Amino acid sequence: MDAPTFRTIIEPFRIHSVEPLRMTTPQHRREAVQEAGFNLFQVHAQDVLIDLLTDSGTGAMSRDQWAALQHGDESYAGSPSFYVFRDAVRELFPFEHVIPTHQGRAAERILFSVLGGPGRIVPNNTHFDTTRANVEHTGATAVDLVVPEAHDPASSWPFKGDMDVPALEALLHEHTDEVPLVMMTITNNSGGGQPVSLANLRRVREVCDRYGKPLFLDACRFAENAWLIREREPGWSGHDVTEIVHEIAALADGMTMSAKKDPMGNIGGWLAMDDDDLARRCRELLVLTEGFPTYGGLAGRDLEAVAQGLREVVHHDYLRYRVRSTAYLGESLLAAGIPVLQPVGGHAVYVDARAMLPHIPPLQYPGQAFAVALYEAGGVRSCEIGTVMFGRRPDGTEVPAALDLVRLAIPRRTYTQSHMDYVIEACRHVAAHADRLVGYRIVDEPPTLRHFTARFEPLE
Ligand code: F0G
Repeated sequence: MDAPTFRTIIEPFRIHSVEPLRMTTPQHRREAVQEAGFNLFQVHAQDVLIDLLTDSGTGAMSRDQWAALQHGDESYAGSPSFYVFRDAVRELFPFEHVIPTHQGRAAERILFSVLGGPGRIVPNNTHFDTTRANVEHTGATAVDLVVPEAHDPASSWPFKGDMDVPALEALLHEHTDEVPLVMMTITNNSGGGQPVSLANLRRVREVCDRYGKPLFLDACRFAENAWLIREREPGWSGHDVTEIVHEIAALADGMTMSAKKDPMGNIGGWLAMDDDDLARRCRELLVLTEGFPTYGGLAGRDLEAVAQGLREVVHHDYLRYRVRSTAYLGESLLAAGIPVLQPVGGHAVYVDARAMLPHIPPLQYPGQAFAVALYEAGGVRSCEIGTVMFGRRPDGTEVPAALDLVRLAIPRRTYTQSHMDYVIEACRHVAAHADRLVGYRIVDEPPTLRHFTARFEPLE
């Protein structure tokens, strides 16, 4: 008999402990979302059936992570849990200094408090919302320089997270003294979860060297990025993911990190770097608001869970399932005629709401319209990544974002294929009624990060 080949990529785990879902009706959800000012961040999680708002901190920990919690040592200073954590980080990213923080944005705040400030310019392939907000909060300017292919949702260019190197070079040439560092977000979350190629990272490194600038990674989804390099970049197909991660790390001078993504934590983050003086200044700020440098706002048990998560995330069986199951959702939506950002990345599927709802102009938030309709129809919570999130400039004026996307982010190891089949049905239902969806207007908003708390009203 020939060795069988299987089309089905199964979840490479079995379920060890379960959490009930609360079934709700469309009527109940209509009331809940109205109460929340049509803002899904304000909906109670109890009223959500399948929560694809984010892949951040929402994944299932493994048996070995729960066991690792028991090793947590809660000493204020010098806890052994810190050294377990530091060594696990360094096994992948061998930076001299590893500074724990309570989550990624705390690492960003500290780094940009030291390196940012009025008149400074920070280039990135695409800043995530908190990264941009933390840069701007210091008075610096955040500039996105992703490759032009990234602006075409239908282009299937394999590395739409790459930096536009000539644009970076032009910026550094013109503003050499104003740029304190160059950032690269892997994978590029705001641009559709798209990977960055090693070839591009190398070219960015060369430019940074020429101008004497440090290169920092925003490495939240580094393992997914490394897997996509293995799948898509010539020359890397037979390599171990850990080896690819080492290649990435060797090109950088430091990193900011959210341990709520690929490190499989429910909380946590870190800042790492080689520069002793920069590390000293960062630790000084850390102590002010996060905590002593061997816990940085985390419990010892959190550090242990993240260390174990880092060991698990680079397993090929896990990454193959992770990337394949995300692609399954994307391909199924596409087959149903729903425009989806191409190619599908690692952690999420991004529906192109602007293409799907051409009758709703960007300043009436087509992404918000789709996200609210999907919640009402199926209890599926998604996240607008478009004009609501990025349309408000620091001076208060409003412009359409580059794209109006709705992200269906997939928590790690949490939902099964039948959950995804249900999500696909719910999306099909909304798509079938797309011409009846209406736009929204904002009736109340804060000056920054408005998507978290703004209140909306449907138009008409
Ligand atoms: N950088 C990127 C690329 C991110 O995706 C996130 C968080 C952060 C930084 C900040 O990390 O949440 O630990 O403070 N992204 C989550 C999301 C919130 O839903 O995409 P954090």
